[in-house]
Amino acid sequence: MLKIDSVSKKFKTDFWSRSFWALRGVSFEIAAGDVVGFLGANGAGKTTLIKIIMGLIKATHGKIYFSKIMGVSKKSIFSNLGFLPERPYFYPNLTGRDFIAYLGKLNNLSSLEINQQGQKWAQRLGIDFALDRQMKNYSKGMLQRVGIISTLLHRPKLIILDEPLSGLDPIGRKEIKDIVADVRKQYGTTIFFSSHIVPDVEELCQKVIFLEKGKMLYSGSVSELVSKHSSSKYRVILEWRGCWEDKAIICNYPNSFLLYENELEKVLCFEIAKEEKEQFLSFIMDKGAKIVSFSQKSIKLEEILYNVNGDR
Ligand SMILES: Nc1ncnc2c1ncn2[C@@H]1O[C@H](COP(=O)(O)OP(=O)(O)OP(=O)(O)O)[C@@H](O)[C@H]1O
Ligand SMILES: [Mg+2]
Repeated sequence: MLKIDSVSKKFKTDFWSRSFWALRGVSFEIAAGDVVGFLGANGAGKTTLIKIIMGLIKATHGKIYFSKIMGVSKKSIFSNLGFLPERPYFYPNLTGRDFIAYLGKLNNLSSLEINQQGQKWAQRLGIDFALDRQMKNYSKGMLQRVGIISTLLHRPKLIILDEPLSGLDPIGRKEIKDIVADVRKQYGTTIFFSSHIVPDVEELCQKVIFLEKGKMLYSGSVSELVSKHSSSKYRVILEWRGCWEDKAIICNYPNSFLLYENELEKVLCFEIAKEEKEQFLSFIMDKGAKIVSFSQKSIKLEEILYNVNGDR
């Protein structure tokens, strides 16, 4: 659907300032029907890459390729694209209905289609009651909903959303996430969206691209990344009522890590690598420890990507 090939972008703010690379050799592909999350901290380069994909700015090096299903001419490619920018401009004096109609017309839709599609999505997003109000009276969440409607109106094959969930309350986030999931399921639309909110991406996407300081650190399946990391560590909670010399031996068992100890309840919690778990369990049982629990440590995508546990 979309191929990003070794894209780099150099910025230079003024003549005297040093130039810097906002993107460095970013390459990945998005297949038709995928929902792909684009993650990265503030300033990682997400918006810069999205602007390059949308042709709003030029890459210093590298290229963007759209597959043939998107069309061959620039015009047909863009008519199959839906885009919600990071900071969309909503004409304050227009009503939501006028704004939707204006964008529908720009996409060559008939008035009938605009009305039908606009009404359908407005109802779905719970904004139909406000469509005849001027947008200067809209809240952030209401504007975001109008923005999403404008993106979906012309039934694009590929939708690119730059931070569609930012600034929304949990209910608003849930509504937009439900729409994204529905659009993909119902129409097979390919969706690429940027976010800082890892759990939202984890919930919606099969694939994730993770950018750090302009460099791509990961591109691939969410489940693969999580299972690769979560299978590497196990947690063992044991009750120890034996002598302190044996306890010291257990605590010094190679490749184990004492996470915490509750002296009152005589409980110790260890983390142990997958390869060592059998030997460790039989070792502590030989010493007379009682196993309270034994579980695989589940790691969230957030912990892996943002290195909360130093696992990356
Ligand atoms: N037009 C520009 N001129 C100079 N530097 C720019 C320009 N646009 C972006 N940058 C810089 O490029 C880097 C990447 O910015 P970008 O907006 O792409 O980040 P982002 O990942 O979208 O961040 P956020 O999550 O905050 O939206 C930042 O350091 C930013 O200051
Ligand atoms: Mg951004």
